[in-house]
Amino acid sequence: MKNQPLREIFDKVRHVVTEPEWALARPLIEEIRQLKAERDALILAHNYQHPLIFFGVADLSGDSLGLARQASQVDAQTIVMCGVHFMAETAKLLNPDRQVLIPDDQAGCSLADAITAEDVEALRERYPGVPVVTYVNTSAAVKAASDICCTSSNAIEIVEALASDQVLLIPDRHLADYVSNHSEVEILTWEGGCVVHEEFRASEIDALRVDHPDICVIAHPECHAEVQASADMVGSTSQLIDWVGNHRPDKVAMITECTMSDNVASHFPKTEFIQPCSLCPYMRRITLEKIRDCLRDGSGEVEIDEAIADQARLSVTRMLEVS
Ligand code: 13P
Ligand code: SF4
Repeated sequence: MKNQPLREIFDKVRHVVTEPEWALARPLIEEIRQLKAERDALILAHNYQHPLIFFGVADLSGDSLGLARQASQVDAQTIVMCGVHFMAETAKLLNPDRQVLIPDDQAGCSLADAITAEDVEALRERYPGVPVVTYVNTSAAVKAASDICCTSSNAIEIVEALASDQVLLIPDRHLADYVSNHSEVEILTWEGGCVVHEEFRASEIDALRVDHPDICVIAHPECHAEVQASADMVGSTSQLIDWVGNHRPDKVAMITECTMSDNVASHFPKTEFIQPCSLCPYMRRITLEKIRDCLRDGSGEVEIDEAIADQARLSVTRMLEVS
């Protein structure tokens, strides 16, 4: 993914980027590449990032687990996280001595906003002795108040590794439903949800199947349980991408943030992507201009209170040790 020739990049994005848009983006991409080299920086991009970012400037990409793993192995001076704030915080937890920049510090997440460290403490009092597994889509303070983190790709494995009859899996109630439906462990949860995935309805999937009887439907576990049940497969963003790569369906609906399909479509031109679209307003805050500005000015530096960083790091590294 490292600095492909610009013409090759345009070939990858031309199904969603017009010639005039490319003419505007091209000098920015060149400037970002130059600044990256000057600053010894590495750009990590989540699978939901716009194709111009994903193909144009990112060095590494992945789902939340993939980004955390990659962040634990970088040797650059600076990491720029093209994703949302909790992803940048996770990168900082794993790289306390490196500079971690996020191009827009308002790139949050409705799940991270759904729960506080005080809420976790109250849950611990209500359910004494029950281990607390926190989805990585949370603040460092919430991670610090937890026993271990998980992502959408390893939640079942993490919950089962705790060898407890009951587990608190917070804050996404839909991810909790997913684990509960695939495990014997009793899952207690919280009322959090993702504003993007909660938009999807099982009736939309039924309608898709009527219009396209041969369509494959794959969904993210942040969707409602009924949507998960209607899907042919449920998984993290990278697991959904891998599924398309392994099955090469003629038609697919990826029931997740829809920018991802634009990136995946570049790799699988024979597959037709059809789906209802729901965009993440937080992910969309990251733009080429803001990436250029943060690399040029060193702005958007992620800082984590030392009082919580050590404990939060433990929750993340425990997860990486299990999965
Ligand atoms: P993944 O870990 O599956 O990429 O999910 C992150 C996310 O924010 C999904 O909305
Ligand atoms: Fe958060 Fe949902 Fe956006 Fe993912 S898609 S970053 S869970 S709001």
